[in-house]
Amino acid sequence: MNNLQKKYAERISTTLAKYPDKRSAVMPMLYIAQEEYGHVNAEGIAQVAEICDMDPTQVKSIAGFYTMYSEKPKGKYWLQVCVDLPCALRGADEFHHWLLDELGIEEGGTTADGLFTAEHVMCLAACDKAPMLQCNFHFEENLDKEKMRAKLKAWRAEALAAKNGKK
Ligand code: FES
Repeated sequence: MNNLQKKYAERISTTLAKYPDKRSAVMPMLYIAQEEYGHVNAEGIAQVAEICDMDPTQVKSIAGFYTMYSEKPKGKYWLQVCVDLPCALRGADEFHHWLLDELGIEEGGTTADGLFTAEHVMCLAACDKAPMLQCNFHFEENLDKEKMRAKLKAWRAEALAAKNGKK
């Protein structure tokens, strides 16, 4: 039993139960690997291949094809701010630049503590709820500076608690 199978046993079995064939679950399994390692690394690919009964090179080619998987390390919280036109008209562009300044990073960069990566993306289909972003693929909508500061604070506290073994 590999690390992902041990750590995410319930999630993996629930996901596999939704598909007639293990191979069909490769994409949700890659999400789990990305969540565990911060990016889709060789270790994650090997474990997903084992879970889905696939060749690691097939899994790697799938991970490389889709933009929602990153083969480069990301922060624990991967923030993707939509700055496409409808969101930009609601201040998303300015919000995105403010967020980068607030985190002290450049576009696509990661904070020195490894917690946050921020980058801009195109339409996420929540155009009427800008400024919005997805954090590890969960939507955060109708944001403003105050709400965002509170979220960053909560995520920092969550990361600290996880590090100290409280969560
Ligand atoms: Fe931003 Fe659609 S333009 S979610």
